[in-house]
Amino acid sequence: MKAKLAAGNWKMNGLGRDLSEVRALISAMGAPSCEVLICPPATLIDRMRILADETVLQVGAQDCHAQASGAHTGDTSVAMLADAGATHVIVGHSERRADHGETDAQVQAKTQAVLGQGLVAIVCVGETETQRDAGQTLAIVGAQMRGSMPEGCTAQMVVVAYEPVWAIGTGRTPTLAQIEEVHAFMRRELTERFGSEGAAMRLLYGGSVKPSNASEIFALANVDGALVGGASLKAADFGQIVAALGAAS
Ligand code: PGA
Repeated sequence: MKAKLAAGNWKMNGLGRDLSEVRALISAMGAPSCEVLICPPATLIDRMRILADETVLQVGAQDCHAQASGAHTGDTSVAMLADAGATHVIVGHSERRADHGETDAQVQAKTQAVLGQGLVAIVCVGETETQRDAGQTLAIVGAQMRGSMPEGCTAQMVVVAYEPVWAIGTGRTPTLAQIEEVHAFMRRELTERFGSEGAAMRLLYGGSVKPSNASEIFALANVDGALVGGASLKAADFGQIVAALGAAS
């Protein structure tokens, strides 16, 4: 099993001056017994990578284009992200699915592009509140995983993040039993499709993870880390989440 992963998603937040939070995080976290990743906006990848050089911090991207190059104004290819220093790319975040109408097929093409460049894809799935209330959570998560992940995914190259849409940025989280139920389902589905690779694939929980709830979430079966939005912006908060994950490892 690979080391657990604490991944920060800065979303559309962060200017050069905010790199002071990254300096503070690096000095506060020491040598954690988990992997630590921050996915800043694309404009900060290169500068953050320089700061993170020779530290345990890894730097990733929040999205990519599926094509390697071409006439796609405003888009960024995986090769460009890798060139800037990214080692991971988040794909299929619910904000991309909602704001940009990304389909499972498009997310799968992006995942394929990430794997093709040898980077790690963090594939996001999760139900809306309406879907949960209608009892469709497992059906939605299952369909998104099947549609968004290409054949041949390995535990080395792919991480899957379960992010209930209604828990993102709201301060609300599912019950521990609900998280455990979805993660157990994901583990079964991934093992059925990818065999031992699926059994070893890291499953992150995301949606309002904060210092006060991190430890109880990390204690759950089949939770191998977290994808953290708001609480990853402040070194003090993210540092505590990294420490909680290290303690659970
Ligand atoms: P949040 O975001 O931690 O602010 O809820 C999580 C995410 O969208 O990845």
